[in-house]
Amino acid sequence: MTGVRQPMIAPSILSADFARLGEEARAVEGADWLHVDVMDAHFVPNLTLGLPVVQSMLKATSIPLDCHLMIENPDRWAPPYAEAGARNVTFHVEAAENPVQVARAIRAAGGLAGLGIKPKTPLEPYLDMLHEFDTLLVMTVEPGFGGQGFIAEVLPKVRKARDLVQSGHLTLFIEVDGGINADTIEAAAEAGADVFVAGSAVYGADDPGRAIAALRRKARAAAASSP
Ligand code: DX5
Ligand code: ZN
Repeated sequence: MTGVRQPMIAPSILSADFARLGEEARAVEGADWLHVDVMDAHFVPNLTLGLPVVQSMLKATSIPLDCHLMIENPDRWAPPYAEAGARNVTFHVEAAENPVQVARAIRAAGGLAGLGIKPKTPLEPYLDMLHEFDTLLVMTVEPGFGGQGFIAEVLPKVRKARDLVQSGHLTLFIEVDGGINADTIEAAAEAGADVFVAGSAVYGADDPGRAIAALRRKARAAAASSP
């Protein structure tokens, strides 16, 4: 890839008002993707929403949906999100029986396939399968809750993935999720991330649209100054 990376901002509706999801989606119309955290109270301790809510959101907004499935058995449950029309469907490698098969099913349904890895999960064992994916989501907090502190120790995984993209070995969105805000986004962008999930930093701001623009500016400047 040549030129300056164009950062993408994906506000997470985990920090939005769940009783007003349509309005909350419209409040971030300048965003690139809308990040939807699906939690099943098994893979993570928290419980959020599932496919019926995603189907309703697809009707309520034109922002592409980035579904982050923090669920057991994605082998069975992930492809229907792509069939419903989600742009990107990320599931966790720690939960999947056969990640490559799931990725192929997501792609066959017309979605981008994302592989999610928790902070303590190494990247190395999965490098060989990354060509089956469109997105690598590197968790920068333990999955389950919004508003946690950014774990900078995971950034070497972002750097490794960026090296593989830069050297032409992979075409991949590199997404970071958790604790991304005006203080942390530059470090993530310098490491090579190009999709930035932000929950509390966007929905906790007085003006979500301005928060998105400010995050994008910072990420772009940091990407431009990194090798
Ligand atoms: C955490 C979720 C994140 C969360 C991020 O498990 O995957 O998407 O919404 O929230 P912030 O940006 O507040 O850390
Ligand atoms: Zn998420």
